[in-house]
Amino acid sequence: MRIVVTGRDGQVAQALSEVGAVEGVTIIPLGRPTLDLADPRGIAPALEAAQPDVVVNAAAYTAVDKAESEPDLARAVNGVGAGAVAEAAAHIGVPILHLSTDYVFDGSSQRSYREDDPTGPLGVYGRTKLEGERAVAAANARHVILRTAWVYAPFGTNFVRTMLRLAGTRDEVGVVADQHGCPTSALDIARTLVAIAGRVRAGDDESHYGVFHMTGQGEAVWADVAEAIFARSAMSGGPSARVKRITTAEFPTPARRPVNSRLDGARLKAVHGLVLPNWRTSLDVCVDRLLAGAKG
Ligand SMILES: NC(=O)c1ccc[n+]([C@@H]2O[C@H](COP(=O)([O-])OP(=O)(O)OC[C@H]3O[C@@H](n4cnc5c(N)ncnc54)[C@H](OP(=O)(O)O)[C@@H]3O)[C@@H](O)[C@H]2O)c1
Repeated sequence: MRIVVTGRDGQVAQALSEVGAVEGVTIIPLGRPTLDLADPRGIAPALEAAQPDVVVNAAAYTAVDKAESEPDLARAVNGVGAGAVAEAAAHIGVPILHLSTDYVFDGSSQRSYREDDPTGPLGVYGRTKLEGERAVAAANARHVILRTAWVYAPFGTNFVRTMLRLAGTRDEVGVVADQHGCPTSALDIARTLVAIAGRVRAGDDESHYGVFHMTGQGEAVWADVAEAIFARSAMSGGPSARVKRITTAEFPTPARRPVNSRLDGARLKAVHGLVLPNWRTSLDVCVDRLLAGAKG
């Protein structure tokens, strides 16, 4: 199986390359300048040349706060660009797996969000990602839209690496404790994507397509995640800090975030038989790898 993934250096793209090597799947990462989502003209030729069986659109404008001041670029990449990738995949007759986000929701629900719950993004990032979902669905009937959340990996830019870096220079770190979500390992996402790619490639069952929620099992607030990182790190003699649990109001950001963005993964389990590991298990693996890398 040949899988093209957009955004070579992103967390999910890197994780796919790693998982593909282990599982014997050919991953073809296409990043800038070969493939620029903000310049859709080059997308179709790049996909045609790569001859994939499945396309994964993992590239995105992911700077949630900066998007507030760059809405046009965010829309070009997350909305128009995503649609162009889906259209190019349809043109060569292959399915698209498209990554989306918990930030399409406004956070007002008291329970975990299901796929058909009403959306209501609070900021530019979430709005443009929602536009991308719609553009992808309109351009390619063979689409699997996977909303994920709070992604971390031993590489790339993410909360785990930030916390370990901060713990190297501070005794205490203030972390928000009133936003509820589902931390998700990029490596678990990659394994799930490979499994779904195998299924949609093998047969054309309409029930395989549509929107799915794909997050680590369990739930947390950011402060819980920080505490788990430091506990694991301390066990191995790595950097650790006290966590001061603060409110969102004490840590203002340009973009508003949903207070509850927990996603319900029941549909992914029912249709594809896939359940991601608990976030604490995968987080330990990630922290261990980062510490081993720092020592090595
Ligand atoms: N990270 C999260 O917490 C999170 C949460 C929910 C959903 N998601 C979604 O999951 C997917 C993967 O996220 P991630 O964490 O892997 O993202 P990431 O680490 O921020 O990587 C995003 C990638 O997109 C690339 N990119 C940005 N603009 C591009 C353009 N115009 N053309 C081509 N590539 C471009 C970036 O390239 P450069 O390296 O060259 O900038 C980068 O490699 C995205 O769709 C994201 O919206 C992420």
